[in-house]
Amino acid sequence: MIQLVFATNNAHKLEEVQAVVGDKFDIRTLADIGCVDDIPETGDTFEANASQKSTYLYTRYGCDCFADDSGLEVAALGNEPGVYSARYSGTRDMERNIDLLLQRLGDRPGRDARFRTVISLRIGNEEHFFEGTVAGKIGYGRQGSGGFGYDPLFTPTGHQKTFAEMTSAEKNAISHRAIAVAKLADFLKANY
Ligand code: IMP
Repeated sequence: MIQLVFATNNAHKLEEVQAVVGDKFDIRTLADIGCVDDIPETGDTFEANASQKSTYLYTRYGCDCFADDSGLEVAALGNEPGVYSARYSGTRDMERNIDLLLQRLGDRPGRDARFRTVISLRIGNEEHFFEGTVAGKIGYGRQGSGGFGYDPLFTPTGHQKTFAEMTSAEKNAISHRAIAVAKLADFLKANY
């Protein structure tokens, strides 16, 4: 069995990845390896942040590992909030982050956006990146109560519901994270 550390303590993310990569891979969390470090994440791109986290783990803990970084890019706002998605308003309060996004967009009609996830895999002294994106539009207000983060604002292209109005199975079938994770799983299965 091949062991890989996922730079997360989010049980939901772990479950999603473990289900897709299958039981040939044993995915461990930061808690499993006793890492309680505040891993630096100071880049200004998703790639830089994912790489910074996986490189930190690989260097300090000597383990094959991967790390992800995600966020929402709104075209009319110069791709903000991007890497600042979790703290757009200067706090982690998502109600405030959503309010600020709606305020900055105002009632302009151009509401194109996309969610992106980048995964950096550090394995056997190599680094590989996997990306997932999903395009859609930002609404004029919140719709739905499921999901997390900016889900109530985002309607993926070709759908009538926001991510927050979808079941988690519906969202996971098309989400940026699921696409990136599927690419990671395909790579691992083909090469290890
Ligand atoms: P993370 O890198 O996966 O922790 O995501 C960073 C931030 O991007 C989150 O705190 C959310 O604000 C936002 N985000 C990432 N993925 C999603 C999603 O699937 N739905 C809504 N917001 C998301």
